[in-house]
Amino acid sequence: MTIVAVLSMKGGVGKSTVALGLASAAWDRSLRTLVIDLDPQANATMALDAGDAVFTTSDVLADARPGVAVDAVVPSGWAEGIDLIPAERSLEHRNVAQGRHSALRLRTALATLPRSYGLVVIDCPPSLGELTRNALSTADVAVVVTEPSHFSLHGAKEALEAVDVIASATNPDLRAKALVVNRFDPDDREHLLNLQRLGEAHGPLVYDPPLPVCSAIPASQRAVSPIHAWNAPGSRDVADIMDDLLDSLLPPERPTREMPKVSIRRFLT
Ligand SMILES: Nc1ncnc2c1ncn2[C@@H]1O[C@H](COP(=O)(O)OP(=O)(O)O)[C@@H](O)[C@H]1O
Ligand SMILES: [Mg+2]
Repeated sequence: MTIVAVLSMKGGVGKSTVALGLASAAWDRSLRTLVIDLDPQANATMALDAGDAVFTTSDVLADARPGVAVDAVVPSGWAEGIDLIPAERSLEHRNVAQGRHSALRLRTALATLPRSYGLVVIDCPPSLGELTRNALSTADVAVVVTEPSHFSLHGAKEALEAVDVIASATNPDLRAKALVVNRFDPDDREHLLNLQRLGEAHGPLVYDPPLPVCSAIPASQRAVSPIHAWNAPGSRDVADIMDDLLDSLLPPERPTREMPKVSIRRFLT
């Protein structure tokens, strides 16, 4: 099981889009997936249309007994094999530390999550507060999303620093695996310049290629559809990028050992 946290300093840059895109790539390859919505705005919850939720991530963090998150899992409206722990507005109250080991509450609550999930995607709120700290304390890998605008460069750096802080404080195995640049326009000189700056500052962490502006993204989200099942101009390109991004986050497939070939002739003589 690989747990991915998708984060950024700012709202509206494409965190939920990347989280949903990864879930879509997982759905396309029949990889059982749980999406955990840690944003009080609950955009991923809406895009996955799980119906009326009984428990949400707010209840999970309030309770935080080992394994309690399993009770909050509901099937998504996408398809079988893609599940969700939904968010609600009142999750906002959990964005401040509560008691000792506050940042470990989500990790504790997920202790008994079935190993049959190949992927868990945590969609973070647009801040580096206690909710994002919980996500980073739980995750194996972090994906930071940014736009190629001047003011976003600083936010991307801060988000990457937050990953390092959590790694040294509570989660030594955590790694930032990708800095995804969203809404990139190759004809915009400012975008090209900022992409170059990001490359100079963060090297191979900057995910190549960046995500283009694509109207199929909001359209598929409104229609409660994985981008991989959405047939519109540009949707295939976005799906391909999400496939490659997911590949880069999952551990490399172990090569299957070839059976030694036994020569039949040996037995015939
Ligand atoms: N590359 C893109 N092209 C077109 N629309 C996009 C793109 N990325 C995101 N959007 C849309 O922009 C809005 C904000 O994106 P979202 O992923 O919800 O951001 P965040 O989760 O960071 O707040 C959503 O309506 C989403 O559908
Ligand atoms: Mg979001």
